[in-house]
Amino acid sequence: MINNKDNFYITTPIYYVNGQPHIGHAYTTILADVLSRYQRSLNKPTFFLTGTDEHGQKVQKAAEKENMTPQEQCDKTFVRFKKLWEKLEVTNDYFIRTTDDNHKKVVQEALQELFDKDLIYKDEYEGFYCVPCERFFNEQDLENGILCPECQRETQKIIEGNYFFRMSQYQDWLINYIEENPEFIQPTFRANETLGFLKKQKLSDLCISRPKERLSWGIELPFDAEYVCYVWFDALINYITGIGYKQNDEEFAKWWPASYHLIGKDILTTHTVYWPTMLKAMGLPMPKTIFAHGWWLTGRDKMSKSLGNVVNPMEMCDKYGVDAFRYFLLSEMTLGQDASFTEEAFIQRFNSDLANDLGNLLSRVTKMILRNFDGTIPAPATELAEEEIEFLKAVNKAVEFMPEAIDSMKLDRGIERALAAVRAGNRYLEQTAPWTLAKKGETDKLKTVMYYSANALWKISTLLHSVMPQKMAEMLIALGFNAEEANTVSFENIAGKNDVLSGKKINDPGALFQRIIIEDKNVKNNNQQQKKKQKQQAKQDKKQKNAEISVENGLISIDDFFKTELKVAKVLEAEKVPEADKLLKLQIDVGGEQRQLVAGIAAYYSPEEMIGKTIVIVANLKPAKIRGVKSQGMLLAAKDTDGLKIITVDGLISSGASVG
Ligand code: MSP
Repeated sequence: MINNKDNFYITTPIYYVNGQPHIGHAYTTILADVLSRYQRSLNKPTFFLTGTDEHGQKVQKAAEKENMTPQEQCDKTFVRFKKLWEKLEVTNDYFIRTTDDNHKKVVQEALQELFDKDLIYKDEYEGFYCVPCERFFNEQDLENGILCPECQRETQKIIEGNYFFRMSQYQDWLINYIEENPEFIQPTFRANETLGFLKKQKLSDLCISRPKERLSWGIELPFDAEYVCYVWFDALINYITGIGYKQNDEEFAKWWPASYHLIGKDILTTHTVYWPTMLKAMGLPMPKTIFAHGWWLTGRDKMSKSLGNVVNPMEMCDKYGVDAFRYFLLSEMTLGQDASFTEEAFIQRFNSDLANDLGNLLSRVTKMILRNFDGTIPAPATELAEEEIEFLKAVNKAVEFMPEAIDSMKLDRGIERALAAVRAGNRYLEQTAPWTLAKKGETDKLKTVMYYSANALWKISTLLHSVMPQKMAEMLIALGFNAEEANTVSFENIAGKNDVLSGKKINDPGALFQRIIIEDKNVKNNNQQQKKKQKQQAKQDKKQKNAEISVENGLISIDDFFKTELKVAKVLEAEKVPEADKLLKLQIDVGGEQRQLVAGIAAYYSPEEMIGKTIVIVANLKPAKIRGVKSQGMLLAAKDTDGLKIITVDGLISSGASVG
């Protein structure tokens, strides 16, 4: 096999064709798109696969309801996904449908091979089937004896002859593989989840067939025409049929094994147990990383049709623009954890990050250059002063960090650094006051200020290009790049010190991001309802907490005290929270894990004073938003009438150490 270590192959789950695309689907697909665009910008051969999962009972039922054949139903509905990806500027290289002839043919060949190797056998089967999840469960796994453990809907008891894949024989091998390959399942706590599952019980063989009399909508088993293939077995194989398995050996060898399978946390078992054992049986190498992200919630609630709180990505894009939507999703979710969507939070982030910070910096700089230098970006004309050095530091930090953030799947942190550089830019303009320099005729300094500001904008637009391709291209065009240059950015260029900007002609960009004014009654009403719900929930949480902690005469037990996890942390970065005088936003390290924490200490400590400090935090506090900024923990401090002092430790101790 050709060594494909220099190639990048990424997949999303293939989406159930009968569902309506929602923000969860949009998130995974945009994430795959951002990673692909980034790899392409490094000139890495890249292949990005997405598509639709079209067989199974759900589709069959939906088709019956609409008086259509299942194929007609699929042909009608798969377009929703295709259209949405076009709208979201998703650059997938191929869109696979599991009803494609080549996919069906390869699935049949794979089944026949496994059958010939005696890795598939027939047996009598008794189980409980969940239609929405398209999965069988054993009785002991059900909730209340009948409900699906995954979605809590009612299962159906089924006894029938079926075909089985000898999955159980790979149990020990899989445990070893996961333990020896820490990159294989990410984040690590998800690998532990799979290991927990594998070590808890004996793995059973996997039922891979459905009798046609019960379900006919599927790929027929090549060795028994009375049966069709189980939808998950068929669907998982898309990851290899989509890149030429058993169709084009050279192409397949070029891309397999995949660099990333991106999935949501609810489909962890199928991807980390079924799929690896299937690949092992087929004699194929394992994907490098299966990465499970968390869920998008609406406020604090799970999104569901019945609650009527499913966020429609098309609607959001029509209302606020595609790039702003992409930006929000990627900056708001810390990969691996759940995130919350509310229109209010969206608008808040849009206004502060995009309109006030980035848009404002671009507009100030381009206007000043148009006015004072006839639109030509000047070369710097004075030596670097302290304020330039400070500003360049923030920009360089962002440039250096983004590749690392992408490689370690911490995209939100990379974006945050880029925005920190934008804010440093606005601060730099306030410090140097170019409008005053112009008035006073201090042209040399004005040239320097304009050059470094424009230079930062160029670097920032490259950093954020894969997240907001259209808007960042517009920004580059405003800075005098041509359309081709504006659409093909390179990280190498911005890491170098070459002066590519002076002499370029500014094109007036207008307002890149127009501030959103909330007039929409629906947004207001939704937000009010959500706030009401949150208040109720908070009340309930408080009640529950009080019930859990037994306070007698003001005393708590030692067990109650240990419910609070106190840890030592190191402050890596600190900055003020815009428009919040009392707050500092800290980036902290807690035993190798990076977190963001917001603390009301700005009146007592400057950001510079905080950097490098060892602090003590409550580590198991539910994440919260303070003035719209995410906070994952609480810093401990002592306060009296004279002031406030943060709690620290006496001497050197490693970050992450427990306190108590
Ligand atoms: N068809 C299967 C996947 C087969 S892959 C070989 C499937 N489809 S799905 O349409 O139901 O879900 C697709 C993806 O959407 C899953 O990764 C799931 O985790 C994700 N999401 C569904 N709801 C979600 C949120 N609310 N938030 C984030 N992602 C969620 O499962």
